[in-house]
Amino acid sequence: MERRLHLPRRKEPRGDNKVWFGHSGSDANEAVFRAVIKATGRTGVIAFVGAYHGCTTGSMAFSGHSVQAGAAKADGLLLLPYPDPYRPYRDDPTGGAILDELRQPLEAAPERFAAAFIEPIQSDGGLIVPPPGFFRAFAEICREYGVLVVCDEVKVGLGRSGRLHCFEHEDFVPDILTIGKGLGGGLPLSAAIGPAKVLDCANAFAMQTLHGNPISAAAGLAVLETIEREELAREAERKGERLRQGLQRLAERHRLIGDVRGRGLACGVELVTNSQNRTPASRETAKLVYRAYELGLVVYYVGMNSNVLEMTPPLTITVQDIDAALDILDQAFDDVGAGRVSDTVLADFAGW
Ligand SMILES: Cc1ncc(COP(=O)(O)O)c(C=O)c1O
Repeated sequence: MERRLHLPRRKEPRGDNKVWFGHSGSDANEAVFRAVIKATGRTGVIAFVGAYHGCTTGSMAFSGHSVQAGAAKADGLLLLPYPDPYRPYRDDPTGGAILDELRQPLEAAPERFAAAFIEPIQSDGGLIVPPPGFFRAFAEICREYGVLVVCDEVKVGLGRSGRLHCFEHEDFVPDILTIGKGLGGGLPLSAAIGPAKVLDCANAFAMQTLHGNPISAAAGLAVLETIEREELAREAERKGERLRQGLQRLAERHRLIGDVRGRGLACGVELVTNSQNRTPASRETAKLVYRAYELGLVVYYVGMNSNVLEMTPPLTITVQDIDAALDILDQAFDDVGAGRVSDTVLADFAGW
């Protein structure tokens, strides 16, 4: 027997917020980028130097990482310095000087900017944790001018920071949130959550055949249930604390370590050749990563100077594995510090 589906044709968005599903962090950020411009009729966007929002043409257009320096940038892109307490912009560790730089163009052209894309921890830019209160103040200024705040939590969301959403540390709520990576538990799945009037701004606007496919969606549900049931955010906080304490102990033993920072299981270790003037130890960082790999530990480096170890392990990592990783790092720092890792080992590898 023929069954007919009578779907109501919706003209107005239902409710205030909705979820858009994609395949990757890059396409979620790109979809939001296009939507905020279309929905607001404004042409500019704000982002940060060092930001990595993805690797599609659209997401690269408003990213600020030097690794993508050759990419075409969006017209009207304003890149602000990211507030880095270890390398404060204009010697202001609060980030106040950056807020001034945000205000000026907004005052000059109040209707110019559609949205500001932020990372609540700047990940590929160097695992930088912003100073307390910065993003709350940033969001308040944006709201004064009707600029939507888009929080990219593709890397640090979903429990990794010790809270379900990393923005919870910052005491503000963004207008739009993007998530991805672990959301699909290894299957392609990302999401943008935001006002329906923005995400529904036009037909066939950010639509691909397999967006929201049932396999990835089922995996996403299982991931969310697991995060909740196994209290993975709280676990990330507990295990992250152990990891950072261990890294602090290494910092007391190894002069190459200039700074240890992070939230939950998003940890960064910045390497410097001289702790006084904080000269980035880029080559030493690459050697460290190589030596750690030889000893059995996979760790990456990030940052505009390629001198920050990024440690973002699975939220299910065991305490024993954390301790084993710290032992390997200790050995790797010993070997690099004592000159036992030659320059030639790096020849075959391109950096970040
Ligand atoms: C903050 C952030 N946004 C977006 C992306 C892009 O995500 P994907 O690689 O899934 O496209 C990444 C990837 O590393 C990221 O760290």
